[in-house]
Amino acid sequence: MNSYHIPVLLNEVISYLNIHPGHWYVDANLGGGGHTEGILDKEGKVIGIDIDSEAINEVGQKHNLNIKTFDSHLEAYSPDLILYQDNFSNLESIISNISNRLISNSFDNKHYTKSPSSKNIIRINGVLFDLGVSTHQLEKASRGFSFNKNAPLDMRMNQLSEQTTAMDLINGLNQGELIELFFKLGEEHFAKMIARKIIEFRKIKAIETTDELANIILSVRPRSHIDRTHPATRVFQALRIAVNDELHSLKSALPQAFSLLSPGGRLVVISFHSLEDRIVKNFFIQEENMKRAKVLTEKPEEPTEEEIKQNPRSRSGKLRVLEKIS
Ligand SMILES: C[S@@+](CC[C@H](N)C(=O)[O-])C[C@H]1O[C@@H](n2cnc3c(N)ncnc32)[C@H](O)[C@@H]1O
Repeated sequence: MNSYHIPVLLNEVISYLNIHPGHWYVDANLGGGGHTEGILDKEGKVIGIDIDSEAINEVGQKHNLNIKTFDSHLEAYSPDLILYQDNFSNLESIISNISNRLISNSFDNKHYTKSPSSKNIIRINGVLFDLGVSTHQLEKASRGFSFNKNAPLDMRMNQLSEQTTAMDLINGLNQGELIELFFKLGEEHFAKMIARKIIEFRKIKAIETTDELANIILSVRPRSHIDRTHPATRVFQALRIAVNDELHSLKSALPQAFSLLSPGGRLVVISFHSLEDRIVKNFFIQEENMKRAKVLTEKPEEPTEEEIKQNPRSRSGKLRVLEKIS
């Protein structure tokens, strides 16, 4: 098993991507490369994107790729696997940059199409988003994502170039802003009480660690035996989404991914909470209403009980698929 991250809904993803051997697919959330491996196994070619250099290094090393730094981000090239470190909200420019490099190195001359601006860009047959954080990011204490690992509150997916950390937000926002953050991005019912406690704590000292924050939340809402998740889950989720501006990135990436797809190509998205899922669902309905696409998943696919037993982190995964018509 992959200890970096166990891929969620792997068989479903590979089946929906409908891999054509030798054609290009984008894995916009490379992580430990579990889904990428599945595409490569079916002889598809993969452009793997991740904002986190640790994911690029992990998969690059596994495939013995020569990882290079360009303008403070990582890239690696081979005939069937390309890795690129960036935010997927820059998808069009990522694919355009990669296309230019491939053309100038005459790496692959068969699979190009014209972009709207008439430039040659790689023809993409499918794009996968597997949103959120990897097990590696949660488990590595120093990343400061988890209430189970005591560490400085960080939560940046891109530690190289992102400046604002969870510690900055939790100590810098006023009470009203904290309530709004926890309520909007965490759907946390105890937002007001937790925000009040945070302000009280800050009068004594700054909140610096995941343990300090988790204990403040537990003082408002102790864990009960009927809780399926830790009481700090929603606040930590809200902070992570805000630090990494996750919802804006998703909103901006979906139309770019769709416009890059060849006709018949598929957009496959796994989301892990209702805020993401709503964005995906609405985008899919919009494209279907415009008669540009067909939704292939009337209801989202979810992990089976067997998968959840083997990989409890998969439990909130929802997979939706859109096929481009023209
Ligand atoms: C759930 S994991 C992906 C796991 C992967 N599919 C696998 O099978 O190993 C999500 C990954 O997406 C990355 N990520 C999250 N937001 C991103 C963004 N806006 N742009 C690029 N990568 C992002 C995270 O750094 C993390 O490595």
